[in-house]
Amino acid sequence: MKHETLAPPVTPETPHESAEKHVTGRADYTDDLVLPQGALHAYLGLSTVAHGRILSMDLDAVRAAPGVIDVLTAADIPGKNDVSPIGRNDDPILADGKVMFHGQPVFAVIAETREQARRAARLAKIDYEPLPHVLDPVAALEAGGDLAVPGMTLRRGDPQAALPKAPRRIDGRFTIGGQDHFYLETQIALAIPGEDDEVVIFTSTQHPTEVQHMVAHALHVPANAVVVNVRRMGGGFGGKETQMNLFCCVAAIAAKKWHRAVKLRPDRDDDMIATGKRHDFVVDYSVGFDDTGRIHAVQGDWYARCGFSADLSMAVTDRALFHADNAYFYPDVEVRSHPLRTNTVSNTAFRGFGGPQGVIVAERIIEEIAYATGQDTLAVRKANLYRNGQLTPYHQPVEDMILPRIFAELEESCDYARRRQAVLDWNARMQAAGGPIRKGIALTPVKFGISFTATHFNQAGALVHIYTDGSIQLNHGGCEMGQGLHTKIAQIVAEAFNVGLDRIKVTKTTTEKVPNTSATAASSGTDLNGMAALDAANQIKARLVDFLCTAKDATPEEIRFVPDHIVVRDETIPFSKVIEMAYLSRVQLWAAGFYATPKIHWNRAEGRGRPFYYYAYGAACSEVSVDTLTGEYVIERTDVLHDVGRSINPALDKGQVEGAFVQGTGWLTSEELWWDKEGRLRTHAPSTYKIPLASDRPKVFNVKLAEWSENKERTIKRSKAVGEPPFMLGISVFEAIGHAVASVADYRECPRLDAPATPERVLMAVERLRGGPLGLRDG
Ligand code: MTE
Ligand code: HPA
Ligand code: MOS
Repeated sequence: MKHETLAPPVTPETPHESAEKHVTGRADYTDDLVLPQGALHAYLGLSTVAHGRILSMDLDAVRAAPGVIDVLTAADIPGKNDVSPIGRNDDPILADGKVMFHGQPVFAVIAETREQARRAARLAKIDYEPLPHVLDPVAALEAGGDLAVPGMTLRRGDPQAALPKAPRRIDGRFTIGGQDHFYLETQIALAIPGEDDEVVIFTSTQHPTEVQHMVAHALHVPANAVVVNVRRMGGGFGGKETQMNLFCCVAAIAAKKWHRAVKLRPDRDDDMIATGKRHDFVVDYSVGFDDTGRIHAVQGDWYARCGFSADLSMAVTDRALFHADNAYFYPDVEVRSHPLRTNTVSNTAFRGFGGPQGVIVAERIIEEIAYATGQDTLAVRKANLYRNGQLTPYHQPVEDMILPRIFAELEESCDYARRRQAVLDWNARMQAAGGPIRKGIALTPVKFGISFTATHFNQAGALVHIYTDGSIQLNHGGCEMGQGLHTKIAQIVAEAFNVGLDRIKVTKTTTEKVPNTSATAASSGTDLNGMAALDAANQIKARLVDFLCTAKDATPEEIRFVPDHIVVRDETIPFSKVIEMAYLSRVQLWAAGFYATPKIHWNRAEGRGRPFYYYAYGAACSEVSVDTLTGEYVIERTDVLHDVGRSINPALDKGQVEGAFVQGTGWLTSEELWWDKEGRLRTHAPSTYKIPLASDRPKVFNVKLAEWSENKERTIKRSKAVGEPPFMLGISVFEAIGHAVASVADYRECPRLDAPATPERVLMAVERLRGGPLGLRDG
């Protein structure tokens, strides 16, 4: 038998392990799990003021409602009333004495059915003494600028001196909206009490270990009493990195109190009202440049709406600054973050984690320079791209810059020069003829730093078991949220043993098998857990080789893993036979693997270090048509060329690029969050909050991976992280809309669209540039 000639058992384009179950409805989400007998249901009662002292709580009507078993308030929490992920003690599970935003959980109803709990929660009568509230960054600044967490400064060179010396200078302000995660599955927790202090949680979190800690603190029990299980999420997008903690704590407290299973799942509205979102920012920027469009110096201040507590706002606003340069070298630079406390829900992780709010400012600066100097934005981009060896504002050298090649290939494949000319010609004809439709085109890059900026999070573990029948159970610290992580890790292990995927079962993520995990976040799931799983597989492989050497009197060089078999010299033994033999010879057939990312370090106080192991790159070119009478637009065509290093699974990677692009486009076009003066979120359902529809996608959508790319660092199979970086390719659509708008004033003025560029904002920008009646200068 010549196994070497067999096709490898794992093909790169392997479909998502749950693809069929997803589309047939047979994938079990937390809400689908069979409930233990006597399970109860919880529902949260939310505050109705943005800031106030609780004077009295009359919960009698809630208690008297049909089916109600109990009402929990802060006083019923046996341990710590806090779910702050950074130990700040500012994130109560249930409000205690004071509420900090409209929609904050104040109490929880426990009832026989979910419907009973939900209805009863409406019956509370709570008296508040209203306190003054601030809702947005500008108001927060005016009220004294209370910070939720300390800000950061990145500085290189002497921008104070360089700015006035530059031949030209522009100062501007950019308002950048937030975003609701709109995962299809809302937050959810199911707690099942065990004996003594034990509790088991089934939930949909990106961070099982943090849930374990939070539940342990809330119950005042050690972490070893709490087990957290996650089979899959119906989308997380960062919205389940910390936000699940509160739901799990409430379910666990009630479960332990009543010794019955308790499930908590909010409605969509309450999920949107009570959980954190992407940070919106107001950014003041200054750029000094010359007539050729080359940047001399940049200064900027990033003012973020953090909400009422710290949550992850420090790391998010830090990452905004880490991406304030995007792909461009700023010779002298100073950027500062101002993470402002506001009386709104505490904002949190969202795909890109602040990075997009940095990148888009760099792209605004490029636009400013291009309109001021009468150039194509792409020419200005090229003139300012990093060259290898140049330092970022945080003093990490750029060493793997591949954007020139990505630009060149994308320009060619999307026919940029010809199509840009066609856009200009079309707009000129419309200008002459008075036609309402304008076109715009933009090609924008992304450079995204990969690693958690808190260095210690960059570690992972895995546990691989081979059972005596030759089947393999694979467990690792990462969580599946649709991104295909489990598929990729299974591929890695299958390839290590040279066996088919049908031998491998990836089990649910559980704190019982791999402890002390990091959140599945920062796009690092495969980088970290893939390496840990490979480490485990390699340990078992080494033992098998040792065993065969002894059993068959062979040398390691004489042993090869071929498809589903192991060759020892000229003898070919089926994989499962080797496993059986090894077991009988008392060889350990399981192993725990571990990985810690090398080379990285970061000193926040000094603003120096190497926070990122490497960068992921990409670029997109988008063309849009804008109706200047209504402000509506369509994406005519988008071409993407994205860098994932050597792809582990091109099908999944392309899916990530497409999904991220569409989600990024939604952030910058139709998704608008709106709080009224009382601090009530008025956009809390699909009726008022518009995520992109299938019909909003580009009419022509060409997505390619840079197949020639490989990671210069020793990442898993030389691949690169893919989850977040392509989110920022949506900026090409935003800028193309701006280009179309700018045509009404012959491109003499930067359109300075704020985000999201809803049709209303586009129309106002058109009118402003035309000097028309809707042209509110500050609109
Ligand atoms: N893709 C799907 N389908 N669903 C998700 O929730 N989350 C994104 C991205 N892609 C997400 C997704 C975010 S915010 C991150 S950080 C990464 O996936 C996390 O997974 P990874 O590290 O395995 O790429
Ligand atoms: N990215 C995503 N999630 C995180 C990070 C980060 O850098 N730090 C802490 N949580
Ligand atoms: Mo992603 S925002 O790091 O969960």
